[in-house]
Amino acid sequence: MCLDQEMTMNMNSIRPLTDPSRPKVYIETYGCQMNVNDSEVILSILQDAGYALTESIEDADVILANTCSIRDNAEQRIWGRIDQFRIQKRNRNGVVIGIVGCMAERLKDKLLEKVDLVAGPDSYRSLPELLKAITPESPQMNVLLSHEETYADIAPVRLDKNGVSAFISIMRGCNNVCSYCVVPYTRGRERSRDPQTIVNEARILFENGYKEVTLLGQNVDSYAWESPEGNMNFPQLLEAVALISPELRVRFSTSHPKDISDEVIYTMAKYDNICKHIHLPVQSGSSIMLEKMRRKYNREWYLERVGKIRSVIPDCGLTTDVIAGFSGETEQDHQDTLSLMEEVVFDSAFMFAYSERPGTLASKKYPDDIPYEEKTRRLNEIIALQGRMSLKSNEKEVGKVMKVLVEGPSKKNPDELCGRASSNKMCVFPSRGEKAGDYCQVKVESVTSATLICSRID
Ligand code: 5AD
Ligand code: SF4
Repeated sequence: MCLDQEMTMNMNSIRPLTDPSRPKVYIETYGCQMNVNDSEVILSILQDAGYALTESIEDADVILANTCSIRDNAEQRIWGRIDQFRIQKRNRNGVVIGIVGCMAERLKDKLLEKVDLVAGPDSYRSLPELLKAITPESPQMNVLLSHEETYADIAPVRLDKNGVSAFISIMRGCNNVCSYCVVPYTRGRERSRDPQTIVNEARILFENGYKEVTLLGQNVDSYAWESPEGNMNFPQLLEAVALISPELRVRFSTSHPKDISDEVIYTMAKYDNICKHIHLPVQSGSSIMLEKMRRKYNREWYLERVGKIRSVIPDCGLTTDVIAGFSGETEQDHQDTLSLMEEVVFDSAFMFAYSERPGTLASKKYPDDIPYEEKTRRLNEIIALQGRMSLKSNEKEVGKVMKVLVEGPSKKNPDELCGRASSNKMCVFPSRGEKAGDYCQVKVESVTSATLICSRID
């Protein structure tokens, strides 16, 4: 990295978010963690251009929604919000409304009929110019996708409140083209970010008191940096971040079952501060569905990877994503999903009914033919089973000792703290006056399906 870049990142590291004399920007974020991180990049760019953040929509000169297109209901929610934003615009002179992110990329001109600004995920550097150019007669749009943009040199303005955990994007886009998924169309081709900027960002966070970083990518296992000075793959990057300090926890998401390598698993095992948790979306337990979804693995491959993870890291936390009612899914396919979930016993899962997305391969090739009621029935069975599996997974923790990173007081009882174990499981335990960012040793005494209830052993 050149000196200039390093200085910019140092200067930008952790900066004040508010300043009454500047035009104010309000931002709402929808969708994935990556979008939260993108909002932090957007704020950094706008802050450098003279804007200040406001948390009140009534104070805002610029109202932005960073949007998600992954399922139809995500988009419907945002159309509803746009109507509310327009009320703000009607009531106050000079207010500008902008839609950025995946929905901006997907719907382009359709959105421009309702808002002043439409900007896709690769165009955030142009936001200051776009905002400047807006007039009542000329709304502005930039939805160009890039093969290079990684925002590598931009130090995100942290939106997290506790100053303990932060997210770092290590790559953008996706090359996988799962048949149901809109992401390759909204976020473009996969590109990896310069590892030195990643390690530098993590180090600055640590120096500013952060204790945990999560490396983010649609498919972190395919991270690949090539340069004349040397190449780097994901396990090497993971190691480089872990080496910053044993006091800095490192997490990552999302892993793809077809790509997660033994090298990643052994690197996790080698470093205490690489958290023992893998989010490994399975989507379906039926090899027939997996083939149609173009996941490029089958049920046996997935179970083999889980077996490998557990043989190397016996206590590794495992979570997943499941889709119910994909095109042509039979009762047997659904039963295969349930049986895989019983076999693996995931700690938790994000579970969804299939939502056909215009433009995807599935929308062109496969009918969305599972009736709404049937999808809902299957999804409810999946959710109910996962509830039992979460409890089962937690019950096996009783009696174990864990190192927990304190997030803050527990919501239910101010005399207790909450925080996550390495496995990402939520722990609640008696406070001895520790604060967010401290580590505590606890012992699991009892559990619910969502929480480990612990005593103190330190
Ligand atoms: N319908 C339902 N769920 C979807 N996901 C992605 N696309 C769709 C879709 N069209 C889910 C997958 C993915 C998660 C982020 O969202 O489970 O892993
Ligand atoms: Fe994130 Fe995908 Fe939603 Fe885009 S469409 S915000 S990548 S979850």
